[in-house]
Amino acid sequence: MGKDSISQRITKSSFLTHEEVTSIETWIKKLNRYSLHTQNQKITYIKNMFSHSYRILGQGLNRIVFDLGNGHVLKIALSEVGLLSNKNEHSLYTDCHPSVKKYLCPVKEHGNGWIVMKKMDDKLPPTLQNFNKLINLHARFFSQGILPVDLRPVNTALDKKGKLKIIDYGLFMKFV
Ligand SMILES: Nc1ncnc2c1ncn2[C@@H]1O[C@H](COP(=O)(O)OP(=O)(O)OP(=O)(O)O)[C@@H](O)[C@H]1O
Ligand SMILES: [Mg+2]
Repeated sequence: MGKDSISQRITKSSFLTHEEVTSIETWIKKLNRYSLHTQNQKITYIKNMFSHSYRILGQGLNRIVFDLGNGHVLKIALSEVGLLSNKNEHSLYTDCHPSVKKYLCPVKEHGNGWIVMKKMDDKLPPTLQNFNKLINLHARFFSQGILPVDLRPVNTALDKKGKLKIIDYGLFMKFV
């Protein structure tokens, strides 16, 4: 096991039970070994693990997102890109400059293959003003040495105060 996977490992969580963390770890081992599973097989496996406790909020090709019911969401990797996205969101949120951090949906906890984030409730209205905001955000991140890959309306939301937050920044790339 590499140093990185040790630092990612978390045994105690404020959001998940020990059994839930262990189930996710078992899933991640399977994901590493059997990357050829179909998307449906992956979803069925994870649904069986969690859907009796939590509602599914969304799923992409790379991650499945559960509503923890306490104002937070749980994102679990479905692929290697999902693993990378979860790691990337945690490290970007931890390390980036405050001038751009304020636009990132806060990451509260992370483990091997999963993260817990604040839940955003509202979609970004498709107004010209919001479109311009996104264009300005591209420039802001770029000026902090971050390429905001996949920064689109669907990957953003509004917080309770109506502030724009990016909910999917897993593919953002640091270039300096
Ligand atoms: N913090 C959040 N608050 C509320 N909903 C969320 C949050 N994060 C993700 N979601 C929901 O889950 C969906 C999938 O999340 P996300 O985009 O992070 O996963 P992904 O696998 O990277 O998706 P894709 O590859 O399709 O972009 C989002 O479109 C959104 O509906
Ligand atoms: Mg997305």
